[in-house]
Amino acid sequence: MSKRVSEPTAPPVERAFLVGVEVKSQPGLLSLEDSLSELSLLCETAGLEVVGETKQRLDTPHPNTYIGSGKVEEIRLLVEETLSNVVVFDTELSPTHQRELEEKLGDNVRVLDRTAIILDIFAQHANTREGKLQVELAQYEYRLPRLTRAWTHLARQAGGGGGRTGSVGGVGLRGPGETQLEVDRRDIHRRISALKKELENVRAHRSRHRDQRRRTQIPVIALVGYTNAGKSTLLNHLSKADVYVADKLFATLDPTTRRVELPGGHWVLMTDTVGFIQKLPTQLIAAFRATLEEITEADLLIHLVDATHPNAHVQWDSVKETLSAIDAGNIPMITALNKIDQLSDPEEAQRLTTEYEDAIAISALKGAGIQNLLSSIERELFETFVPVTVYLPFQEGQLISLFHEQGQIATTENTRTGVTIQGNLPGRLIARYQPFFERPKSTEE
Ligand code: GTP
Repeated sequence: MSKRVSEPTAPPVERAFLVGVEVKSQPGLLSLEDSLSELSLLCETAGLEVVGETKQRLDTPHPNTYIGSGKVEEIRLLVEETLSNVVVFDTELSPTHQRELEEKLGDNVRVLDRTAIILDIFAQHANTREGKLQVELAQYEYRLPRLTRAWTHLARQAGGGGGRTGSVGGVGLRGPGETQLEVDRRDIHRRISALKKELENVRAHRSRHRDQRRRTQIPVIALVGYTNAGKSTLLNHLSKADVYVADKLFATLDPTTRRVELPGGHWVLMTDTVGFIQKLPTQLIAAFRATLEEITEADLLIHLVDATHPNAHVQWDSVKETLSAIDAGNIPMITALNKIDQLSDPEEAQRLTTEYEDAIAISALKGAGIQNLLSSIERELFETFVPVTVYLPFQEGQLISLFHEQGQIATTENTRTGVTIQGNLPGRLIARYQPFFERPKSTEE
């Protein structure tokens, strides 16, 4: 057990006390200490003032309060001492845990978990209609099982502004014998269905847009990476665009696409996507499905890593894990080790590239290594041929002709419903044939 307490400063607005917990049988990707530092950064990004922290390692979570009763009492005293009004747990708490802890920690203390903080940051940063809808949906789904108080409290917070929620929260909707809580629950269910429907429409629109892009045959590259790795800075540099760059977590929530010219004269479309983070709440992965689809539909991924970060490797693993979870694990990927201008030893950059597969060292801010990166993209998309065997049903006529036009065919074998083609495909087309792979292999010609 350890604790750190800073001196209280007036005025006490939203003073947060952090609790790091590690369940021994479920170690996280980051150490308890590093995960807690990350939570501290998340809280500051969300606008809270972090005033103290404590940690605990547990064999198993307590069924009611997650941590043991002795620890709860210790936190209660620390919260009093530091004048904290919010206690943030670095884990996902169940509604029961949250309720019990709030009861034990005192009337004026709110208990939040990591998911609530990330949701809050997402709500602040969503700009487009789609981004806002996605966050609102995630917020409602998160809050529904935790609903114990009056709806008005919730209506003010949800959706980052609450304008749209007011219309469904009226007391006039209450039926005979219903408690306010029941009315609130029913209204939220209704709102969730409406949001899902609205999102489906946006998704369909986005998908039509993607189909159009496909027809132009311009390869699509998605920039992925841990939050704050430098994705927006790279896109700005490459396209001379003005994408919002900030030294904040999750500055970019909505995908932005720009045209970029490669050294050999080919054009590609490059999309900046939402930053990843370890323990990304499942609600958010589900809610951001539409945005994440931009990644799954890409022909190539540039995985940006802040090479100067002490946990660069863990962050890389965490992004790979999320990519697999959204079925983007097999898309060709180049790792761009960013921020090398901050390394004291220039040799270090070269050494780092040997630690990752297909890695290039760059500085998105200063421009170092960018030509290298672009050449590597060009090679991957236009000069690399990948041997594949695909089974294409006849209704995929477009893909069959594309293979004939742009690939190198070794053998074809017709069946009653489709054709098996063995041959080589240019790297830029691989992702499109992914669903039809029989035996994917990857070597450079
Ligand atoms: P999210 O929106 O959170 O996903 O972040 P992002 O990956 O888009 O990062 P962004 O481009 O906003 O950059 C984050 C911070 O890193 C900003 O302060 C940038 O100025 C800084 N940064 C980005 N690239 C470099 C670099 O090559 N060198 C240095 N020194 N700083 C960089």
